[in-house]
Amino acid sequence: MTWLITGGAGYIGSHVVRAMAEAGESVAVLDDLTSGVRARLPEDVPLVSGSTLDRGLLDRTFAELGVTGVVHLAAKKQVGESVEQPLRYYRENVHGLTVLLEAAVAAGVSRFLFSSSAAVYGMPDVELVTEDTPCLPINPYGETKLAGEWLVRAAGAAHSLSTACLRYFNVAGATRPDLADTGVFNIIPMMFERITEGEPPRIFGDDYDTPDGTCVRDYIHVEDLASAHLAVARRLAAQPEPGDLTVNIGTGRGVSVREMSDLIGEITGRPELTPVVGPRRAGDPARVVGSTELITKELGWSARHDVRAMVESAWEGWCLHHPEARRG
Ligand SMILES: NC(=O)c1ccc[n+]([C@@H]2O[C@H](COP(=O)([O-])OP(=O)(O)OC[C@H]3O[C@@H](n4cnc5c(N)ncnc54)[C@H](O)[C@@H]3O)[C@@H](O)[C@H]2O)c1
Repeated sequence: MTWLITGGAGYIGSHVVRAMAEAGESVAVLDDLTSGVRARLPEDVPLVSGSTLDRGLLDRTFAELGVTGVVHLAAKKQVGESVEQPLRYYRENVHGLTVLLEAAVAAGVSRFLFSSSAAVYGMPDVELVTEDTPCLPINPYGETKLAGEWLVRAAGAAHSLSTACLRYFNVAGATRPDLADTGVFNIIPMMFERITEGEPPRIFGDDYDTPDGTCVRDYIHVEDLASAHLAVARRLAAQPEPGDLTVNIGTGRGVSVREMSDLIGEITGRPELTPVVGPRRAGDPARVVGSTELITKELGWSARHDVRAMVESAWEGWCLHHPEARRG
């Protein structure tokens, strides 16, 4: 197999590229570098700089590299931005995927992995979210991921592709500081940012129906997520008949915002910055924790890293880009 990894210069993509390359898979990257960084990639991995919207470039890339499988991570991923710019999100995440699938089918690609998200579930009202929990996204970002799944499965069924849709829960951590996520879009970097400014972390609501009143989430270490991609890619490659595998990728364990804040205070050396509690944010479900039963049953895969390892490695990455943070 030769795998084309779209979005491979991004945060998650660069971990997937390294995990697959180190395991001996032949990989190349297509990335428009809008948020990706070339330096995240190993020097011997080819990078095609361009967009999934560029059909001509895709056709040439598939032909020249002899691509037989695609791991599609390229997307826009900010929920708030998707509310303000839905057309851009549908264009990049849904139209970009359509063009990519058309090119893949035309080139005879037979395996296709798609980065989906727990955002497809919206506000699930269950203890553990299974793959059968209804998908009711509550923002354009989640809608584009759900529409993406529909596209991938429909194209797979019609064109004899083996497909997988991987629904990631909250991704955190890094295998090395220089591969860390540099965006400030979720609770961990948001708390790091406050602490770096000498301010206490913020908690949005402590009156939820959860053990300590704060929201509960399932955090998955990006290294575990990358190993899941390798396992799924190998399953698809070995599968004699086309078919789809749609799975949650999380840990099955919930961590509350308050627990996370305490851990971050400890790891950053600023436990005295007691979090301040503000009002709830719109669209925050009380609890989103994924059942991992299906992927464990199908592939024998489960996450190995705990939340402490995630936060420690995320902090090392944060300090690389914010050296002033260490002084607190
Ligand atoms: N980070 C998370 O917590 C999380 C959770 C669930 C799902 N996801 C999904 O995982 C994937 C990767 O996310 P990430 O956190 O690494 O984000 P990221 O922004 O770091 O990576 C996205 C990469 O795709 C590239 N890209 C974007 N649009 C492109 C296009 N049209 N053509 C070519 N390249 C393009 C960017 O330059 C970037 O390198 C996305 O599909 C995202 O929706 C992320």
